[in-house]
Amino acid sequence: MSAVILSGKTYAQELKNQAKINLTELIRQTGVTPGLAVIIVGADPASQVYVRNKHRTCREMGINSQVISLPENTGKSALITAIKKLNEDVSVHGILLQLPLPKTLQPYESEILYNINPSKDVDGFHPVNVGKLSIGEKCMVPCTPLGCIKMLESAGIPIDGKNAVIIGRSNIVGKPMANLLLAKNATVTICHSHTQNLKDITRTADILIAAVGRPAFVTADMIKPGAAIIDVGINRIAPKKLVGDVDFTAVKEKAAFITPVPGGVGLLTIATLMQNTIEAARQQLL
Ligand code: GUN
Repeated sequence: MSAVILSGKTYAQELKNQAKINLTELIRQTGVTPGLAVIIVGADPASQVYVRNKHRTCREMGINSQVISLPENTGKSALITAIKKLNEDVSVHGILLQLPLPKTLQPYESEILYNINPSKDVDGFHPVNVGKLSIGEKCMVPCTPLGCIKMLESAGIPIDGKNAVIIGRSNIVGKPMANLLLAKNATVTICHSHTQNLKDITRTADILIAAVGRPAFVTADMIKPGAAIIDVGINRIAPKKLVGDVDFTAVKEKAAFITPVPGGVGLLTIATLMQNTIEAARQQLL
């Protein structure tokens, strides 16, 4: 039987509806409209599209939004100065530095991100938030893994006591995903490029999260019949063709639930960013 296809559009709309309710209530209580500032350095075309989408969604929701575009040759200290200015700006409640940074700044990525005030860190990348997530404290949670959890929950897919396998150990997806699933009482395994017998592990997964960055990496023989497959990959295989990490056509015949690419969890990332921005503002204002 073919899997239920989890539409990002439906779940993203659900999250945005909830965010709108929270936003209206916050504005009623404080008289303040939350503000998000997104910094983009350079002109990476994919990043420009993501940033435009974030800006547009803020506008649609009624969140103030500013995009700070800095030239490709911006130095580390100029970028940190821009971040510090936003830390001081009381009209800005969330700060997001779009990644990847230009090559010359990449060695300093962590150092730069650490300058974002943790209470404005709507990406959840600051070590204070990373640490809090790992010990199960309330904190800013990275948007993509948070979107995956929200989707699993909204779709009624059980997590408690289930085997969850994540392929990919990035700081943006794999590691926070593991902590969020652990907090929901899943038994969690993280696989990566050095994992041996990968297929034996992925076949135990009731929930399989693919965050590898390689087209059709997850094939039908790697999954357990009836599993829930969440595809976080976004791979451009032709100028106008995006695919995930999962061989969608084959895997959907074996899985019980599967997310498409495009149109899957990617759409929830912006919705969770809106939620994080409103929550950051709530914590700063109340
Ligand atoms: N680039 C790709 N994904 C992300 C994300 O979640 N946050 C930021 N800041 N940059 C990204």
